[in-house]
Parts: sequence; structure tokens; C-alpha cells
Amino acid sequence: MALIKKFRIKSFKEQQTLLKLEKISMFYNKRQILNNLNLNINKQEVLGMLGPNGVGKSTIFHIITGLKDPSYGKVLIKGIDCTNIPIYERATKFKLGYVPQHGGFIQDLSLIENLKLVGEIHIKEKELRKSKIDKIISQFEFDPLLTIKAKHLSGGQKKKLVISMALINDPSILLLDEPFAALDILTIKMLQEIIVNLQSIEKITVVVCDHQARDLLSCVDRAIVLSNGKIIASGSPNEIIKDSSARSAYFGDEFKIN
Ligand SMILES: Nc1ncnc2c1ncn2[C@@H]1O[C@H](COP(=O)(O)OP(=O)(O)O)[C@@H](O)[C@H]1O
Ligand SMILES: [Mg+2]
Repeated sequence: MALIKKFRIKSFKEQQTLLKLEKISMFYNKRQILNNLNLNINKQEVLGMLGPNGVGKSTIFHIITGLKDPSYGKVLIKGIDCTNIPIYERATKFKLGYVPQHGGFIQDLSLIENLKLVGEIHIKEKELRKSKIDKIISQFEFDPLLTIKAKHLSGGQKKKLVISMALINDPSILLLDEPFAALDILTIKMLQEIIVNLQSIEKITVVVCDHQARDLLSCVDRAIVLSNGKIIASGSPNEIIKDSSARSAYFGDEFKIN
């Protein structure tokens, strides 16, 4: 767990619920994907959601953002029932940021044009918009990349762009869908550092999902494991890898982190 020690600036202590999923069930046609799922996400924690491909991780993000309606159950943010609030209103009033697994930017616009586009949607005041975009450019070290079309950026640069676009709205909750997929080790480390800084410097609550445990467990405070539509285990990275249900349903006997 050397990575955690290196990245962790403060350990997570608050236990105040910010986002709550209450008795969520989801059916696609007649097939049940999520089964009476309950989840509390605490203010300013980094929560990892683990589970095999197809278990329903992206579906949970779609239900939180409003891209999909659950078949049953509620989504509450700061205690307010958002289940019937439309996507845009949920994103703006409840400060939800979402980084999808694929895309999330306009391929034929340059990096700066993508940032300006999102800036114009969210920030009406010109000076404020400019200072927010300037802050993001320096925070993410985008200076040499500004005029490059998004489609020509590397995988890691694209991921940084989409994360930075989600930050323009000053989210209090950021959802990251498989951010480490198909990236090299150094880029994954850079993203892990960004995630931990979002929590410790920007005070953002981060929910990150992945179907592979190792990279995710290095940068989260708490993780849950999903299996057959339910949360079968929850705990700190060290706790969850020892959990017998999580080991038999997901990690396997050989799994270790060091
Ligand atoms: N729009 C849809 N219609 C029907 N089935 C879907 C739809 N979206 C997802 N599914 C199915 O729901 C299950 C969960 O999908 P998903 O949430 O994308 O899983 P994960 O993100 O964990 O890989 C999968 O079996 C998938 O095939
Ligand atoms: Mg997915």
C-alpha cells in the first residue's frame, strides 16, 4: 500500500452522508441488474466501486446523474429526493460532475475550445469564466496542449481533459467511470494523484468505479464490491481484500496488494 501512503495527505474522517441510494432496483426489460441496493456516500470521501464487467457500475452512475431512472428506489443528495429531477438541474443545483468511461468531449474541438464550451454553459460572468479556465489550465498543466484537437490527445490527456471539464461547474460530487482503463502505469499514477488532490485540496467527494481492483484500491478511502445486483462487502482497502464474501465472489484467493 505504498501508493496510499505517498498520496494520502489527510485521512478521511467525516461521516456525514452527502449522497444516498435508497432501495434501488433496476430492470432492463425483465432482467434485474440492481436488487434493492442501499448505499451511503460520505461527504469528502473517495469511494471505490468494484465489480466484474456487466455487474451494474455504470448503471449506478446513470441513476445518480439522472441519465436513467431506477425501476424502484430513490436518489437523495443532501437529504433531498432528486429521483425525479432532470439531468441538467441535478448537475447544476446539486453540483454533480460526471466523467463517463468513453468520450465526454468534442473530438474536433481543441482542448481550450472544449474548456470554453463547458465554461460558457456553466459560468455566465465573463471574467469569472476566464479565471476558472485559467486556473484549470495551470492546475492540469494544459499550456502546451491548448490548441491540439481533442481527438489527437493521448489517452491520459483525454482523461485529464474530461475531468477538468467536469470541474468547471465546481462539483461537490464527482463520478468517475473506469478512469484507469487502457492507460499506462505512469498515467494511472498521475490520475490517482489527481483524484486524491480533488479530495484533499478541492474538498470534492469522489466516486470511482473499476472492474480491476488494484489501481482503484490505491487511491480510495473505502470500497464496495458489487455482485448479483447487491453490495456484498464494504470497507477500507485493507479490510475489503480480507472480506471472505468479496474474496469468493470477486477478488479470488490469490489476490494481494502490497
Ligand atoms: N440500455 C440497456 N438495455 C439493456 N441492458 C442494458 C442496458 N444498459 C446496460 N445493460 C445491461 O446491464 C448490465 C449492467 O451494465 P453496466 O451498468 O454497463 O455494467 P458495468 O458498468 O458494471 O460493466 C449489463 O449486463 C448490461 O448488458
Ligand atoms: Mg461500465
